[in-house]
Amino acid sequence: MQVFNEIAPLKAFLRARKSAGKTIGLVPTMGALHDGHLALIQASKAENDLTVATIFVNPTQFNNPTDLEKYPRVLDKDSLLLEKVECDVLFCPEVGHMYEETSLVRFDFGHLDKVMEGRFRPGHFSGVALVVSKLFNIVEPDRAYFGQKDWQQFVIISRLVKELKFNLELVSIPIFRESDGLAMSSRNARLNGKQRQEAIVFYQALQFAKEALKAGRSLEQVSTEVRKHVESTEDITLEYFEIADSENLNLIDDVKAANRPIMCIAGFVGEVRLIDNMFID
Ligand code: PAJ
Repeated sequence: MQVFNEIAPLKAFLRARKSAGKTIGLVPTMGALHDGHLALIQASKAENDLTVATIFVNPTQFNNPTDLEKYPRVLDKDSLLLEKVECDVLFCPEVGHMYEETSLVRFDFGHLDKVMEGRFRPGHFSGVALVVSKLFNIVEPDRAYFGQKDWQQFVIISRLVKELKFNLELVSIPIFRESDGLAMSSRNARLNGKQRQEAIVFYQALQFAKEALKAGRSLEQVSTEVRKHVESTEDITLEYFEIADSENLNLIDDVKAANRPIMCIAGFVGEVRLIDNMFID
């Protein structure tokens, strides 16, 4: 695997491959890699000649300084994992390479970044859009891979690609879960034993809600029960449980009136913030 910290040598390397007709898949990450990330790498490897993984803990998307400071950073371990799955290129820049000066550019995605994550993490999606745009411009991939785990992020990046006319195809990969259902997340590493057990309440709530809604129970009733169940778990604070139209992220109160409704949930286990989601169908 070729490892680059700086932009210019990476671009030169990729330019040579592109002029030899090779296709490039990009997998942006913030590291502390798990099987969900590795599935994105596998998907990219299956569809492209060359796969570029990036590891960069992007400061502009963190609205909480403690979360940024405590975000797990395990570059040596990640490099070994990437070697093992035969990733071709790793780009792991320092903050100063990606942000030469304080950034002035801000993105506003209207309604898309005001609901759910956007409501609780103001500025988050502007930072995501900024760093993803930089990575698209640096790597110029044919395809870029993102997880369903961050569905709102995927919808927003799709809009970014469409409006800014990035010449690439976006691919979404399903959520990878631990054997008890907990969605894999780099932040899971920060949970203690008890919190790790409690964290499955988000998945259980989504499963319960899916069955209850399919059985025809009202969204209001189901939401109330989800809240009660989740909040009765000792270390958990629920931030939101919402059901949205998965295409336009409009929050809905009638599942029959939406394009492929998706249930999204977020909350804290102790001081660790986790998210999860599930389609109803
Ligand atoms: P990060 O949280 O590291 O996630 C990198 C990619 O892995 C994202 O596309 C995310 O949706 C996907 N992913 C995370 N957990 C997953 C799981 N359990 N199953 C499948 N895919 C999963 O998302 C980010 O980083 C950043 O916002 C980034 C896009 C890199 C911009 O900084």
